[in-house]
Amino acid sequence: MQLSVVVPTFNEAPNIAELVRRVTAATAGSDVEIIFVDDSTDTTPDTIREVADAASVPVKLIHRTDRSGGLGGAVMTGIAAATYDACLVMDGDLQHPPEDIPKLFSRYAQGDVDLVVASRYIDGGEHHGLADQTRVMVSKSSTALTKAMFPIRLKGVSDPMTGFFLVDRRALDVEELKPRGFKILLEILARKSMRVAEVPFSFADRFAGDSKASFTQGLHFLLQLTALRFGKMSLFAIIGGLGALANIFIVWALTHLGINYIASAIIAAEITILANFVLQERFVFQDMRNEASGVWSRFAKSFTFNNVELIIRIPVMALMVTGGHISAVLATAITLVVAFFVRFLFHSLVVYAPRRAAKTSRVREVLRDIDEQAMAPGEL
Ligand code: GDD
Ligand code: MN
Repeated sequence: MQLSVVVPTFNEAPNIAELVRRVTAATAGSDVEIIFVDDSTDTTPDTIREVADAASVPVKLIHRTDRSGGLGGAVMTGIAAATYDACLVMDGDLQHPPEDIPKLFSRYAQGDVDLVVASRYIDGGEHHGLADQTRVMVSKSSTALTKAMFPIRLKGVSDPMTGFFLVDRRALDVEELKPRGFKILLEILARKSMRVAEVPFSFADRFAGDSKASFTQGLHFLLQLTALRFGKMSLFAIIGGLGALANIFIVWALTHLGINYIASAIIAAEITILANFVLQERFVFQDMRNEASGVWSRFAKSFTFNNVELIIRIPVMALMVTGGHISAVLATAITLVVAFFVRFLFHSLVVYAPRRAAKTSRVREVLRDIDEQAMAPGEL
């Protein structure tokens, strides 16, 4: 077998020597390299260098200082640097038993698949290494939710959340992948249809140290799921929806404090506009910020647009009700939906437009841009 083993590490010093020992033993007689992609803030890189000197297989260290893309970004960096096309990804804490590597490889070597997933959830698999009942529940329900959202792409994959898999690098669109956070396999599976096989494995206990999973990671996962499934526009809609709820709540709170309702409405609207701007910068258009104009210019455009929209929407509604004989509820709904689309287009085509706008942009190009923006998977 010819295999590059990619191991993302974040403060895993006490696990390194044991991992290298067991991977080396499990793959004896093969061409194997181990690549650590390390974002640690402790002495893990020193440990890796020491272990590398003593190891009988090539052990490489890529130490990153920007931690970009977190765990998923580290995995992609490792795959890009690998010597062989067959890349096996595993955690650095020995929850993924190195003794299972030959099993994954021999399934891959049959030649009919691009990806072999090590699953906790098929016959012969085990998930006892999940810390407690809560983790088991979270893991199972998020797996079920994910499978329900990608019934076709994830058909035949029982464990799309596993961090233990072997992928043929030639089958990946490395450019297309936007790895962020823990769920790199889901990203790979959801973006492109692949020939996949599964083998069972037993998710073990950590050898040493603590898990880096967190509540924030969970939140990231939900956003990633939405983005992968529905594209940028859905994230924009979710943030807008949250803003609307916040708006109502603030008006309620302020009027209860005895503030005049018009003043309350204005304050609530401005707070919501500000909050929406911050959230959309962070979660919806983050990949377009670098190319776009500066943050203050983006803010000015977004802020102006939202205020103009606010001022225009009310009289338009009034016109619809009095002139068009449409009910007030229907008029509100129509204006809100139209405003949503206009707002999305304005933000993706104007606020976050690349600095040097192409002079030649024709109608067709604009339409293509609109389509691209609306359908582009959001990136998280
Ligand atoms: N380079 C790098 N950068 N590595 C990281 C980072 C990071 O920001 N965050 C975590 N890691 C490394 C850890 O050092 C470890 O080697 C591996 O990624 C997995 O992290 P753990 O903290 O052990 O995560 P876990 O055990 O809770 O989660 C594992 O199981 C999940 C399924 O239950 C991971 O394999 C997940 O991907 C998997 O979904
Ligand atoms: Mn772990």
